[in-house]
Amino acid sequence: MPGAMHDDIEQVLFTPEQIQTRVKELGRQIMQDYDGREPHLVTIVKGSIPFLADLMRAMEIPLSLDLLGVASYGAGTTSSGEVRLTKDLDDSIEGRHVLVVEDIIDTGLTLAYVLRNLRQRAPASVRVVTFLDKPAGRATTIPVDYIGFTIPDAFVIGYGLDWNQRYRNLPYVGILKRDVYGG
Ligand code: IMP
Repeated sequence: MPGAMHDDIEQVLFTPEQIQTRVKELGRQIMQDYDGREPHLVTIVKGSIPFLADLMRAMEIPLSLDLLGVASYGAGTTSSGEVRLTKDLDDSIEGRHVLVVEDIIDTGLTLAYVLRNLRQRAPASVRVVTFLDKPAGRATTIPVDYIGFTIPDAFVIGYGLDWNQRYRNLPYVGILKRDVYGG
């Protein structure tokens, strides 16, 4: 039903144009910082896929990528704190300059788990880029090197972010109406 997804949005936070502008800036900044080192983009699926696709095309340097699957949230909107690996990397990261590509950091528990896991594999370096940061939700201290946008403590969807696996295909980022998820 056309328009049905859009009807579930309380407020649009970032338009497709604002997202493209900011992601291009991030890509340029990362490209400059790596200064000859080749980044290996370890992307947390599935939410980070649109961000990865735009970010990597904003980085005009040699790079490689791989995908890591972790499960944190179920159908709810708050982190359980339980994280498990659902898909491992294809390639070794030993000696590589890993750039973790994340969609959103809320409690930080998912990323803390991912960073612990990756550091055991002897990469040359590990940095983190997140499209969105929700600092109000943080339950653990984690280093974040690059942030697209900092957002208030609301449940957001679109540009890869889901609720119950839906809304990932929205081209903008919006706040989901509370009556949709009964929060
Ligand atoms: P954390 O472990 O609490 O930092 O949560 C990280 C993961 O939870 C993200 O990678 C998302 O998959 C999900 N998440 C956190 N906040 C939101 C949100 O506002 N909308 C959609 N997914 C979210």
